[in-house]
Amino acid sequence: MSNIRRIAVNTGGGDAPGLNAVIRAVVLSAEQLGWKVVGLKDSYDGLFEEGGVIPLDRRAVRGITHLGGTILGTTNRGNPLNWPVEGPDGTVTYEDRSQQVVDLIEKHEVDALIAIGGDGSLAIAHALSKLGLPVVGVPKTIDNDLAATNLTFGFTTAVETATDAIGKLHSTAEAHERTMVVELMGRTAGWIALHAGVAGTADVILIPEIPYDIGVVCRKIEERYGSHGSQFAIVVVAEGAHTAEGSMRYRETNEGQHRLGGIGKVVSEQIHELTGRETRELVLGHLQRGGGPNAYDRLLALRFGAAAVRMVQQGRFGTMVALDPPDVLAVPLAEAISRIKTVPLDSDTIQTARSLGICLGDR
Ligand code: F6P
Repeated sequence: MSNIRRIAVNTGGGDAPGLNAVIRAVVLSAEQLGWKVVGLKDSYDGLFEEGGVIPLDRRAVRGITHLGGTILGTTNRGNPLNWPVEGPDGTVTYEDRSQQVVDLIEKHEVDALIAIGGDGSLAIAHALSKLGLPVVGVPKTIDNDLAATNLTFGFTTAVETATDAIGKLHSTAEAHERTMVVELMGRTAGWIALHAGVAGTADVILIPEIPYDIGVVCRKIEERYGSHGSQFAIVVVAEGAHTAEGSMRYRETNEGQHRLGGIGKVVSEQIHELTGRETRELVLGHLQRGGGPNAYDRLLALRFGAAAVRMVQQGRFGTMVALDPPDVLAVPLAEAISRIKTVPLDSDTIQTARSLGICLGDR
C-alpha cells in the first residue's frame, strides 16, 4: 500500500502535442486510486504565485486529450536551479531556488510530483529528486532527442506537420521552377528533418549529425535540374545543421534569449550564389509544435501518464517513464538526462535516404 494521498503534475519547457493527454491520464489514473491531483501553473512558477497551484479533477480534464498546448501553461525561462534575480541597480544575478521549490511542494501537502518535460525540465526534476522530492518524469519533446526512450510524444505529430508542408512546397516549387529550402526544428538532433524529409520526398536533407558540404548539395541540385528532368528541388534543413568548419546559427529572441535559427536562409543564399538558380526559403518554426496530437501521440501520451501514476504507486521515484516497444517502463532520470539522443549514422532511415538518392550533404 502506498502512502500517497495527493500528487502534483506540471509541464515544463517548449510545448509538444500530447501534453494535455498526459495530464488527463495522470488525473484519471490517480482518481482511480483515490488520490487528489493538483497542477502547478507554468512549470514551477505557480508555486511562487497566488492561485498557481490548481486542483485537477475529472471535470477539469474533460475533453482535452485531442487539444494542443497545455492547460497548465509552460515556460522555458526561469529555471529554478538558475533563477534570475534583478538587483536594485538593475544587475541580474542567478540563485538556486530548488530547495524553495521542494519546501513549497511539501507545504501544499503534495506527496509526489509528476514532471512532464524535455532535457532541461527533466534535469530540474532530477535535481529536485536528489533533494529528496519523490519525482517521476515523463519525456516530452517534438525533437525526439531524449535518451533512454525510444520515442517522445509530439514527435510524430511534428513530423506529420512538416511532411505536409514539404508536400505543399512541391507544387509551388515546380510551378516556378525554384529550389525551396525549408528549415525545420530539431536543435542538435535531426530526427524531424530526416523523417519528414524522407517521407516528404525531399532531394536534400541536412541534419546536425552530418556536417554538409555546400558543393555536394549544389551538385545534387544541378543533377535534378539536368539529367533527371525535374525543374525544381526541395531542400530540408534542420535548424542545427552546419558545415564541418562552421558552427550552428543562432538568433536572438526579443527577450534576449539565444535560439537556433537562420541556417535555412544561409543555405538558400549559397545555393543561389553557386548555381544561379532561383531559391526561396521558409522557416516552419512553431507550427511544428502547434495543434493537437495525432492518434499515435495521443495514445503514447495517455500511456505515459498512466504509467507515471503506476510508478508513483510503486514508489519508483527518481525515474522517467520510457517507451521500450512494446512496453512502457521506468528508467533512472540520471540516465535520461545523461546525453542527447542523436540520429545514428548507420540507422535504417539514413540508409533508406541514401538508397533513394537523397543527398545528405556529405557525398
Ligand atoms: O525543444 C523544442 C524546440 O522546438 C527546438 O527545436 C527549438 O529550437 C526550440 O524549441 C524553440 O523554443 P522557443 O519556444 O524558445 O522558441
